[in-house]
Amino acid sequence: MEAPNLALRDVRKRFSPDEPWVLEGVDLVISPGDRLAIVGPSGSGKSTLLAILGLLEAPTIGRVEVHGQDTAGLSEDARAAIRRDLIGFVFQEHHLLPHLTALQNVLLPVHADRRPSREDVARAESLLDQLGLGDRVGHLPGELSSGQRQRVAVARALIRKPKVILADEPTGALDPGRSRSLVSMLVDIDPEMAVVVVTHDPAVARALGTIWSLRDGKLEPADRT
Ligand SMILES: Nc1ncnc2c1ncn2[C@@H]1O[C@H](COP(=O)(O)OP(=O)(O)O)[C@@H](O)[C@H]1O
Ligand SMILES: [Mg+2]
Repeated sequence: MEAPNLALRDVRKRFSPDEPWVLEGVDLVISPGDRLAIVGPSGSGKSTLLAILGLLEAPTIGRVEVHGQDTAGLSEDARAAIRRDLIGFVFQEHHLLPHLTALQNVLLPVHADRRPSREDVARAESLLDQLGLGDRVGHLPGELSSGQRQRVAVARALIRKPKVILADEPTGALDPGRSRSLVSMLVDIDPEMAVVVVTHDPAVARALGTIWSLRDGKLEPADRT
């Protein structure tokens, strides 16, 4: 059996010793091709959980494993390399660069490796097209609606073909039709890519398949109804 992409082992997190625990013992294994939704009340720690999964935050206690290896001893450079090569993030705030066009924003992660090739540009255009933005590639973020900006951020997360996509409320600014097509795109684009989506939208959660609910610092299987 292939080692999981990512695993959390009894992860606990608090931001300082005088603050309450946000996560109180979370175990989660993400294997190639997994599709899971994480739901839970506002402030329950969903974004914190994604940040720990994506090696942006360290757990206070517990382990984060990448391909079965503990990441605790890694340097910040090594962690950054894993993030670049393994993970595509879609943050709650889109973090697009305002002076770059939609296409240039999507290509930005490629610059970590090389000057974008013609194939990179074609892939970026194709991703934007699949997200319904084929006629917006030359627009600046300020010239796009919030839903369009969010979709540009999704294309940017996908450009380097990540093994795992971690998305925090990626459909928050989208109408139901756009939400559906965004989720089916994430699910269909690469059967081996694991997809983890934090969402408030029950339809989005159902479309992912497996639903976990985060409450009181723990993950539990959610009722699918
Ligand atoms: N960087 C931080 N420093 C201190 N507290 C934080 C930080 N990030 C999140 N928190 C706290 O952790 C809790 C969970 O936040 P968050 O993970 O953003 O929840 P959710 O995404 O489910 O709304 C909240 O009480 C929040 O205030
Ligand atoms: Mg959040």
